Amino acid sequence: MHTKNLVSGIQPSGKLHIGNYLGALENFTKLEAGGDYRCFFMVVDLHSLTEPYDPALKGSQVLDTLASFVAAGLDPKKSVIFVQSHVPAHCELAWILNTVAPFGELSRMTQFKDKSARQEETNIGLFTYPVLMAADIVLYDAEAVPVGDDQLQHLEFTRALARKFNHRFGETFKEPEPLLTPTPRVMSLTDPMRKMSKSEPAGCLFLDDEPDEIMAKVMAAVTDSGTGVSYDRDNKPGIANLLGIFSSVSGTSIEDLVKEYGNAKYSVFKKAVAKAVAKKFAGYRKKKAKLVANSEKLVKIAARGAKTANAVANAKLAEIRKKIGLL
Ligand code: AMP
Ligand code: TRP
Repeated sequence: MHTKNLVSGIQPSGKLHIGNYLGALENFTKLEAGGDYRCFFMVVDLHSLTEPYDPALKGSQVLDTLASFVAAGLDPKKSVIFVQSHVPAHCELAWILNTVAPFGELSRMTQFKDKSARQEETNIGLFTYPVLMAADIVLYDAEAVPVGDDQLQHLEFTRALARKFNHRFGETFKEPEPLLTPTPRVMSLTDPMRKMSKSEPAGCLFLDDEPDEIMAKVMAAVTDSGTGVSYDRDNKPGIANLLGIFSSVSGTSIEDLVKEYGNAKYSVFKKAVAKAVAKKFAGYRKKKAKLVANSEKLVKIAARGAKTANAVANAKLAEIRKKIGLL
C-alpha cells in the first residue's frame, strides 16, 4: 500500500515537445515504476481553455495527450489516469479556494503576466489558473508534484494557499513539494535563452517528429559561432542545451559526452544528437500511432481513471465542505 500521493497534469493544447517529456512526462513513468507513490496523472483540459482553441479539435487533443501518457509508458493499472473535467470536484474546490486566494499574489504570477500580454483580451480563467491548479493538487492530498521549473511559482502559490486555508479552517491540506528532473528547463532550438514552448513551434522538437524532421531541426539549432563542444550555459547556451538533451535521451553523462565530442565539429555533434533523439522516441511514436487509431481504448482508460479519481476527490470535497461550514 502506498502511503504518499503524487499528482501532475499536462494541458491538451497541441503536440508534446521534448521539454514536456524531459521536464515532466518521463519522470511520471519513473515515479510510477518507483512504486513509492499512488500516482494521479491527468489531462488538464479545463486549464487549456484559458488560451485560444478550436472546439472542433479539443476532443482529439485530449485523446492525443492520453495517448502520449500511455505511449510514454504510464500504466493505467498502476496509475490513475484521467481527464480533469471528468471530475467536477476540481471546479468546486477551485471556487472555494478562489475565496481564500489573495488577488495580489495572483497578479504577480509570471505565467499570467506573460500569457495575458500575448492575449488581446485577457480572460479571468487565465488569472485564476493557479487556483484551479492548486485544487487539482490538494484535492488528492498530494505530497509530490513532478513538473518543469516553469511551474515552481504555481507550486509555491499552492503551498501558501494550503497553509492559509489550514490556518483559517484547521488542518485540511498537505503542502506539496515539486519534483524536478536534471533537465527542468529545456531551451528553444531557435533561441537558447528562451524556454522551449508550444507557443513557438519552430524551436520545439516534438515527440511525434519523424527522424528527418528531428535531423533538420537539430542541424538548424542556434549555437554560437565558436568551436569545441563544452558545457557552458553562459557562453555556449545552445550547445549546453543540446548536451542536456543528448545526455537525457542517451543516458550518457554530460561529462562523458564532452570527452567524446569535445573536439568534434558542431555538425558532427549535432548529427549525433539528432540520431539519439530519433532513436529514443522510435518506440513511443509507434505505440502512440496505434493508440490514436484505437480511441475506444483511450476512452475506456479515461473512464476507469475518472471513476477512481471521483471517489477520492468527492470524499475530500465532503471533508472540505464540512470544514468551511457548508450545509
Ligand atoms: P504544459 O504543456 O504547459 O501543460 O506543460 C506540461 C509539463 O511540461 C509541465 O510540468 C511543464 O513544467 C513542463 N514543461 C513545459 N515546457 C518545458 C520545458 N521547456 N522544459 C522542461 N519542462 C517543461
Ligand atoms: N499548470 C501546469 C502546466 O501548465 C499543468 C497543471 C495543471 C498541473 N494542474 C496541475 C501540473 C496539477 C501539476 C499538478 O504545465
